[in-house]
Amino acid sequence: SRVASPSDALLAWYDRHRRVLPWRALPGETADPYRVWLSEIMLQQTTVKAVGPYFARFTARWPDVTKLAAAPLDDVLKEWAGLGYYARARNLYACARAVTEDHGGLFPRDEAGLRALPGIGDYTAAAITAIAFNIPATPVDGNIERVMSRYFAVDEELPRAKPRIRELATSLRPDDRPGDYAQALMDLGATICTPKRPACALCPWHDPCAARQAGTQETYPRKAPK
Ligand code: ADE
Repeated sequence: SRVASPSDALLAWYDRHRRVLPWRALPGETADPYRVWLSEIMLQQTTVKAVGPYFARFTARWPDVTKLAAAPLDDVLKEWAGLGYYARARNLYACARAVTEDHGGLFPRDEAGLRALPGIGDYTAAAITAIAFNIPATPVDGNIERVMSRYFAVDEELPRAKPRIRELATSLRPDDRPGDYAQALMDLGATICTPKRPACALCPWHDPCAARQAGTQETYPRKAPK
């Protein structure tokens, strides 16, 4: 019999412990790119908990990207009030208009096409590609940086280590479930591989994690002094 690969162990953990979040497809459902995009933009500045009610109100009022694009900008800014960083709301609206007017209401299915849209950078383009379309891509947020830097005991400091961490995350990515892989890493970082006192005993990567083996978990990620 074969030994489970790291990604098999991670995905088996995710299948049992995944957080139920409003923008996530249930197992067997296909994700909605509009909801994935909207959630990723909102989550860039705000916690999962705080985003919940905003996400619910936005999607109830504007159930798809063409409806959002047809709204007056002022209505969108008012619904955004309290989330902060209003440039994001303006970009959100500009993006909805661009998807509607230039792409027939469909989000591009590749990172380059997504990156060309207002408010979508490297992280968001990779997150939408992987999560909404299940096409191989590797979004790396702060949680994923922490998980990877511990697993591989990356001694290089952030932000210089970012390209290396992205390579390492890509090296473990399963070809068939890139979206679940990304979200499993996000959940692992949020619930187990926390900045302080990580719950290593509960981690699907307890055995192979280099920092856990050395007892140095909390020293990662290494950061350049500010
Ligand atoms: N933070 C950013 N994107 C997320 C996602 N898709 N699931 C959980 N937390 C997130």
